Amino acid sequence: MRMYDIIKSKRDGRELTAREIEFFIEGYTRGDIPDYQVSALMMAIFFRKMNKEETANLTMAMARSGDMLDLAPIDGIKVDKHSTGGVGDKTTLVVAPLVAASGVPVAKMSGRGLDHTGGTIDKLEGIPGFNVSMTIQQFISNVNKTGIAISAQTGNLAPADKKLYALRDVTATVDNMSLIASSVMSKKIASGADAIVLDVKSGSGAFMKDDQSAFELAREMVEIGSNVGRRTVAVVTDMSQPLGNAVGNVLEVIEAIDTLRGEGPQDLKELSLALGAQMLLLGRRANSIEEGRNMLEELIKSGKGLEKLKEMVEAQGGDASCIEDTSRLKKANFKLAVISEWEGYVESIAADEIGRAALVLGAGRETKESKIDISVGVLVHKKIGDRIDKGEMLATIHANDMQRAQEARQIIMSAYGISGGIVEKPKLIKGIVA
Ligand code: URA
Repeated sequence: MRMYDIIKSKRDGRELTAREIEFFIEGYTRGDIPDYQVSALMMAIFFRKMNKEETANLTMAMARSGDMLDLAPIDGIKVDKHSTGGVGDKTTLVVAPLVAASGVPVAKMSGRGLDHTGGTIDKLEGIPGFNVSMTIQQFISNVNKTGIAISAQTGNLAPADKKLYALRDVTATVDNMSLIASSVMSKKIASGADAIVLDVKSGSGAFMKDDQSAFELAREMVEIGSNVGRRTVAVVTDMSQPLGNAVGNVLEVIEAIDTLRGEGPQDLKELSLALGAQMLLLGRRANSIEEGRNMLEELIKSGKGLEKLKEMVEAQGGDASCIEDTSRLKKANFKLAVISEWEGYVESIAADEIGRAALVLGAGRETKESKIDISVGVLVHKKIGDRIDKGEMLATIHANDMQRAQEARQIIMSAYGISGGIVEKPKLIKGIVA
C-alpha cells in the first residue's frame, strides 16, 4: 500500500477502506509518512468528505494509535466534557471545578488553541507553574486525591490526533465534519471516561457555521460514542459571538475565576450550568437537570467551586495565589480602546474575526512552532442586542506590540455589524442530542 494511492483515491472522491485509513494513521504516527503527504490527504478529505463508516474507522484508528486509558483506579462514574471549539470558550475552567466539587470525578484531557479558537491547555499555562504535561500515573493519582485533573493529552494518548490537530491548524483543514468528529471522539474514547458531554458550537466563531451542520456533527459524535459503549450527550450551543467578554489566555482565566466567584458574564455562567448539569446527570449525582443546576449554583455561592480550582492548581504545581489575586497573572503592556463610529444595536459579531484579532496579537499560533503570548487578547464590551452609541467602547485590546494592536483594531471594527433597529439576543442553548 502506498500513501500516494490513498491521497489519489480520496482526491478522486473514492471511499477509503478501513485498511487504508489504518495504514495512514499508523504510518503517520510512527513518523514514516511525512507532513506534506498527510496535508494533501487532509485537504482531499476536506473537499471530498468522508461518509459515516470512514469517519467511524478514522476515529477508532486514531483512538488506537496510542494508549487506551483505563480509569478503573478512579472510583465513580468518570464524565468527560469536550467543546468543538469557539472564541472565548473558557467553560472547562468553570465547569470542571464545579463538577468536581459536587463529587463527580473529573479526569480531563484538554487541547491547545486551534485555528481562530482557543484551547484550555494554553489558558491554563497562563497560571505560573501550572503543569499540563502529566504522566498517566500522576493524572490518576491527582484525580484520586483532589477529584480533578486537567492535562494535555498525556504522552501516548491518541498521538495520531495530536499530530493531525497541529497539522490541520496550520493547513486550513480544521473545519470538516469528519475530521472534527474523529479528532474529538478518538481522544475521548482513548481517555477512558465512562460518559461524555459534548458542547457542539454553531455560528460564526465555530467550525460549524450553521445549526444544521452543528446538529449533524452532534449526531455523528453521539452515535460514535454510543457505539463503543460510552454514554454521550451533545449540547448544541450558540457561537455567533464570543462567549463571555474575554478572548485571550490570561484574560479568559480571569473571567473564569470571576464566574466561579459569581461575578462573571451571564452567558458563560448559563452555559457552564447547562453543561455541568448534564455531567451531574450522567455521573448520577443529580436526578434531573434542574437539580444539577441548583447544586452547581450552590457551589458557586458557597465558593466551593473556586476552592476546587485552587486545589487543582496547587496539585498541578501552579501558583494558587494567582487565583485569589488575579492581578498577579501576567498582563499585557498596554491597552487600546476600539471606539464605535456608529450608533444603533449590535446585530452581528464575526466571532471568528475576533478570534483572528486575538491571534494577530499573539494569543494563537500562526505555525506549529509559534510561541503564544498568554497576556494578550481582546475584551468585548458590546454583544449582540446591546445598544451602542457613537464614541462608546466596543472592545479593549490588550497588547504588547502597537502595530499588531492597530491591525487587531481594524479587524474588530469590521467584525461588528450595527443595525438601526432593536436586535434580539441569540438563544444560547439550541438543543440536546442524546
Ligand atoms: N476540537 C478538537 O478536539 N478537534 C477538532 O478537530 C476540533 C475541535
